[in-house]
Amino acid sequence: MKGVYECKIIEQNEVAPDYIRTVLECPEIAREARAGQFVNVQVTRASDPLLRRPFSIHEVTPESGRFSLLYCVIGRGTQIMSIMRPGDFVSIVGPLGIGFDIGESPESEHVLIAGGCGAAPLLFLNDAICDKFGCDKVTVLTGGHTKEDLLCETEFRESGARVGVSTDDGSCGYHGFITELLQQHLANRAPNTKTRIYSCGPHDMMREVARISREAGVESCQVSLENNMACGIGVCMGCVQKIKGATPGDKSGREWRRTCVCKDGPVFNAEEIIWE
Ligand SMILES: Cc1cc2nc3c(=O)[nH]c(=O)nc-3n(C[C@H](O)[C@H](O)[C@H](O)COP(=O)(O)OP(=O)(O)OC[C@H]3O[C@@H](n4cnc5c(N)ncnc54)[C@H](O)[C@@H]3O)c2cc1C
Ligand code: FES
Repeated sequence: MKGVYECKIIEQNEVAPDYIRTVLECPEIAREARAGQFVNVQVTRASDPLLRRPFSIHEVTPESGRFSLLYCVIGRGTQIMSIMRPGDFVSIVGPLGIGFDIGESPESEHVLIAGGCGAAPLLFLNDAICDKFGCDKVTVLTGGHTKEDLLCETEFRESGARVGVSTDDGSCGYHGFITELLQQHLANRAPNTKTRIYSCGPHDMMREVARISREAGVESCQVSLENNMACGIGVCMGCVQKIKGATPGDKSGREWRRTCVCKDGPVFNAEEIIWE
């Protein structure tokens, strides 16, 4: 059940320059969360910054009542979070939103494409797919600007998934964009392979993942959007996204509608999105 919880910080680690992994204690969130869902964090008890900040749930261990976040320090809110200490308590709303659909087919292969901090929800997703279908069904493609931006490579490898890595500057793995590795992967598949694609990362990367997936005729392609948010619960309309299809009963002739990423997402079928 979604709720507002006072969560205790258990660990706080800088896993790479300006990337922090925070482990929190909250049995309710650890038990209820599904891969692709997120939480909304009140970074301070003071009034600035006023709005909570949204973060994907990165890992859960229901048996110990813990879950973790993985985030990049880019502004005031994440700066405040980065200096919190084990033992501190933080107010968190969650788990929120609709997560990834991993399907029911034991034959499908699953390809996860992460750009930078987009790896955060995909480690949880990797664990869920491994538990249900086995890690031999999973390929993870993770990319970053430089090798410092490659997150969770070790964790993905240790899970038993196949892992491909790229960097824009060639400092680690394939020299180029992660979407080029996706293109190669799809071109080299055995005939009749059913492929489910999942992606999180920069907007332009996900748009390209959606295009490549459509052209390759994959079984499904899901993307986790990170539109700016405020309330996180479908009230303020601060996170709207244009998607295909008119609202039922809409007589305006429009073939698109606005939807709340926080309530109806953050995971969407890529085919639904109107990419702008
Ligand atoms: C569903 C969802 C899941 C997310 N998961 C992660 C994650 O796992 N790891 C991670 O590093 N980041 C994640 N983000 C992005 C994260 O919320 C922002 O980086 C964070 O809110 C920035 O806060 P700030 O105060 O440090 O930055 P600010 O100083 O407020 O802004 C710096 C930059 O962050 C963007 N930003 C600010 N507020 C938000 C907001 N509420 N939502 C989205 N972007 C914002 C701004 O456009 C600006 O470019 C997620 C966003 C969403 C919507
Ligand atoms: S953040 Fe308020 S409606 Fe989505």
